[in-house]
Amino acid sequence: MRCHLLVLKVLLSVLSTEMMTMVQAVCPPMCSCRETVVNCSKRGLTTATLPSSFPPHTSELYLNDNHLTSLPNNLLESLASLRLAHLHGNPWSCDCGILYLRGWLLKERNDALIRNVTCSSPAHLRGRLVVYLVEEEVLESCRYWMCNLALASQISLFIFIVVQALLLVSVILFLRRFERLTREARRTAAETFTPGDDAPSNEYVMLKDRSM
Ligand SMILES: *[C@@H]1O[C@H](CO)[C@@H](O)[C@H](O)[C@H]1NC(C)=O
Ligand SMILES: *[C@@H]1O[C@H](CO)[C@@H](O)[C@H](O)[C@H]1NC(C)=O
Repeated sequence: MRCHLLVLKVLLSVLSTEMMTMVQAVCPPMCSCRETVVNCSKRGLTTATLPSSFPPHTSELYLNDNHLTSLPNNLLESLASLRLAHLHGNPWSCDCGILYLRGWLLKERNDALIRNVTCSSPAHLRGRLVVYLVEEEVLESCRYWMCNLALASQISLFIFIVVQALLLVSVILFLRRFERLTREARRTAAETFTPGDDAPSNEYVMLKDRSM
């Protein structure tokens, strides 16, 4: 009986690991998949609602005609078998967040794909091919953000230094107090022993007197 239970347990665990690998390979619920072709086009996807991963053996990925403004870092690199990604018909936003997609497109050899990925915003970059953006143009839009970051880090550095100074002052105060207490304790101890201390000097004086 116990043996049967054990066999059942082993079978169940094997089954559940099988299920796990199958779940990883399944098609994202809002997309349709045929063999290794994953179609997520015209699903009204935004960067926030985009599936966080795709089946690992995806060879062709349709993300066209959605509302994507950028792609999360490493989304496409994680698909080792990916041959083609359709990205046209999305309102790509050409600010800091586009650098990952630009880097990925730079490594692509597919001219038709590259020519299909254009900026929708900001206004002065509208219609430009993402792949041909100059890094400075994109970084321009990051400057405001970077300024905020720099300010935030300076403020946190200042707070850090103030806290350190307060700690140092409290340590110094504590040491001073400790020193005073030890000095007082030593004095009290010395006073307790005074009568005993006097005896030898008196003897010495007496000796001195006798010799004279
Ligand atoms: C992908 O899905 C969309 C929407 O359902 C459909 O219009 C389109 O034909 C499909 N594309 C392919 C290649 O299956
Ligand atoms: C480029 O976009 C056109 C529609 O604008 C589409 O028909 C074509 O398949 C796209 N090509 C690639 C490689 O994405």
